[in-house]
Amino acid sequence: MFQPTDISLPHLRAGVHEALKLWSKPNDDTSPLSHLYLFHQAGQTRSANARRLTNDLLLQALTTMEDRYDAFLADLLRRRFLENTPVAAVANEKNIAEATAHKKQRQAIEQLADILAGQERLARQAVITALEQRLNLPAPTDLFGVNAYLKRVGDALLSPEPAWLVAIEGLGGIGKTALANAVIRRVALTHHFQQIAWVSAKQQEFWPGLGLQLTVQPALDSETLIDNLLAQLGEESPEMVSPQQKMALLTERLKAQPHLVVIDNLETIVDFESLLPLLARLANPSKFLLTSRVMPPQAGLASIRLTELSRADSFDLLRHEAGLHHMTSLAEASDEQLGRIYQVVGGHPLALKLVIGQLHSLPLSQVLDSLRQAQGKKVDDLYTFIYWQAWSVLAESSRQLLLVMPLVQNGTIDQLATTAQLTMGDLHDALAQLITLSLLEVSGTIDQRRYRIHRLTETFLLNEVVKWPKTP
Ligand SMILES: Nc1ncnc2c1ncn2[C@@H]1O[C@H](COP(=O)(O)OP(=O)(O)OP(=O)(O)O)[C@@H](O)[C@H]1O
Ligand SMILES: [Mg+2]
Repeated sequence: MFQPTDISLPHLRAGVHEALKLWSKPNDDTSPLSHLYLFHQAGQTRSANARRLTNDLLLQALTTMEDRYDAFLADLLRRRFLENTPVAAVANEKNIAEATAHKKQRQAIEQLADILAGQERLARQAVITALEQRLNLPAPTDLFGVNAYLKRVGDALLSPEPAWLVAIEGLGGIGKTALANAVIRRVALTHHFQQIAWVSAKQQEFWPGLGLQLTVQPALDSETLIDNLLAQLGEESPEMVSPQQKMALLTERLKAQPHLVVIDNLETIVDFESLLPLLARLANPSKFLLTSRVMPPQAGLASIRLTELSRADSFDLLRHEAGLHHMTSLAEASDEQLGRIYQVVGGHPLALKLVIGQLHSLPLSQVLDSLRQAQGKKVDDLYTFIYWQAWSVLAESSRQLLLVMPLVQNGTIDQLATTAQLTMGDLHDALAQLITLSLLEVSGTIDQRRYRIHRLTETFLLNEVVKWPKTP
C-alpha cells in the first residue's frame, strides 16, 4: 500500500507489457499501472474505469514515442497490441524475421516504460514542489535506518481506520521531523488525502536586538493552532471571530473529507495534553500525525517511538555526510575509526552530523577527547559539549550570524544580512562555515534559499551562549 519513492524500471516494464496485453480486454477495475502517480492523477480529472485510464496513459506515451523517439517501434507496438496483430504478421509486414520482431518488441516496451518513467518523475516532482512551497517544508535529507519506520507511519496514515492519531515520539534530534517530512512527501503522491496541512507548534523565542535579554513569547495555544490550521487549509474569513465558530468550521472541513494534519513539536503547545482529546474528536476520517519529544497515553493514539540508529546505520550516516562534505579520508575511514565516534556519540543522528562537521577544523582525537567528558551523561549534556566545541572553532562573523538566527528562523539571505549586520562577503563566509558544521539547515528553492537552525541549536544559543560570562 505504501509505495517507495523510487520508480523501479523492471517493475514498470513488466507493468507496461501487461497493460498492453490487456488493451482491448473487457472493462476492468484494476490496472498494472495503478502504482503510478500519473494513473491517480488521471483518475482525478476524468471519471473512467481503470482500463480506460491505463489505455489513456499508454496512448499518450506511445504518441510521444512516435513524435520524439522511434516511430518504427511505436508502430510495432500499435500493430501488436492496439490492433491485436500476431507477431508473425507484424514481422511479415515490416519485413523482419520473427525473432527480430520479438526483440524489437522488447526494445519498444523498454522505451515506452522509459517515457512513462520520465513523465511520472515530472508529475511527482511537481506535486512535491507545490507541497514544499505551500507548507514551507524543511528540505528533504537522506535518512538511514528509517525504512521500517517509514512503512509503519505510512501504513498507519493510509489505513482508512483507527488509529486516527499517529505520533512519532523520541528525543530531540533523533529524527522525528525528518521522518514526518519524508512520510508526507510519499503520502502526497497517493491522493489519499484531500489536503495535507503542516503546522509547527514551536513557540517563537524572541530576542530583541542583539541584546542578552531573553524574552519568550507566550507559547502556542490551541486557539492559535486552530487559526494556523484554518489559514493553511485556505479557510480565512474575516467575519468569523468566535473560537466556537472557527472550531465548527475546522470540524466541518476535517469531517467532510479525509485530510492529513501534521503537528510538529506538539510538546511545545501550552497544555498539549488537553489538546489530544480535541484532536481525537476532529479526526476520522481525517488523520493527525504528531511529533513530540514526550507523548502521554491517549485512547486511539498509535505512538511510534524512534530510537538511536544502529551501529551500521550510524556508519552509513557518517560515511554519507563525509562524502557530502568532501572529506575523503573520513569517507574511507575504517569501521574501527568510525567505531570510536559511535562509541562516544551513540546513534544520535544530529549529534553525529555535528561531530562530522567539526572534523573539518579539528582532529578526530581532539573532538573525541573532549566529548568523552560527556560519556555516560544525559544526551542533553552530550549536545551541550558538542555545541561548545563547535562554537570554539567559529569565526566571529559565524558567531554573529548564529546568534541572530533565533530571530530570523527560515529567513532569506537578505533578512539574515540585515539582522546580523554583516557585509555580504562576511555573510557568505559565515554561511559556508555554519553549513559545513551542520549548524545551519538550508531549504527553499534555488532562487530563494531559506535558512534555519535546529531547535537544539537554538536551545544551546539561548540557554548557554547568552548566559556565557563575556570576558571584557
Ligand atoms: N535516520 C536519519 N538518518 C540521517 N539523518 C537523520 C536521521 N534522522 C535525523 N537525521 C538528521 O538529524 C537532524 C535532526 O533530526 P530532526 O530535526 O528530525 O530531529 P527531531 O527529532 O525532530 O528533533 P526535535 O525534537 O528537536 O524537533 C536533521 O538534520 C535530520 O536530517
Ligand atoms: Mg523536530
